[in-house]
Amino acid sequence: MSNIDARERLIAALDLPGVGEARRKVEELEGVVSFFKIGLTLQLAPGVERLIQDLIRGGKRVFLDYKYYDIPETVKTAVSRAVDLGVSFLTVHGSTPVIEGAVKGRGSSDLKLFAVTVLTSMDKGDLAELGYRDLSVEELVLFRARKALEAGCDGVIASGREARQVKELAMGEGGSRLLVVTPGIRPDGYAEDDQKRRTTPAGAIVAGADYLVIGRPIVGAADSREAAERILAEMKEAFGKKPRAMVAED
Ligand code: C5P
Repeated sequence: MSNIDARERLIAALDLPGVGEARRKVEELEGVVSFFKIGLTLQLAPGVERLIQDLIRGGKRVFLDYKYYDIPETVKTAVSRAVDLGVSFLTVHGSTPVIEGAVKGRGSSDLKLFAVTVLTSMDKGDLAELGYRDLSVEELVLFRARKALEAGCDGVIASGREARQVKELAMGEGGSRLLVVTPGIRPDGYAEDDQKRRTTPAGAIVAGADYLVIGRPIVGAADSREAAERILAEMKEAFGKKPRAMVAED
């Protein structure tokens, strides 16, 4: 049985129109959520850099989900800028030269790099549309996860449906060498929105997810605090059921 603190493993996505709304949401979630994802929704919002600094100064952790994809040198410089800001997690696209650039930019810092495998809003039809006609979603996720591991990533972003196989492909002596961050989480009874490869909070954790990223079911709820607490209770129970070897302590 694991003694993981579910609160350390819940990341609320601050997908809100502006920094003011994001600050109010963080306040509303004070004492319940302490890890926040800032992504493309806020990327160009005035004051976002200051928001990130304030969150970190206030003891929160920040996951910068900017999904970097560019030539290695540019990615390296962009990642070193994220290191200067003090964010904890950062996403890059799962292609080897991009990841290698990111690993150089991260240097000896504690920043954890995550490769995006296949967006949780995509299914087989979307992959065919991108030209991947001979690969299933699962095959592409696992292919990219393997590449991410080889190139030096700390983990991948993958849906709960592939989490178990991702953890298993990276199994080493001390447990899995890849952390899995899972979006596309929908509590039972909640709308699916645009997420095609959904799992419940408990389903994702039991499958192998180490962290859950949850946006609308928390930040869009009438009572975000209550929604987060309900999800945390489900996460706590699921972590409790997980064998210790399946849990990454970091
Ligand atoms: O509102 P919802 O819970 O669907 O939000 C999920 C968050 O996770 C969004 O911020 C989205 O950008 C992000 N994400 C995702 N699928 C990925 C990578 C990131 O949904 N593969």
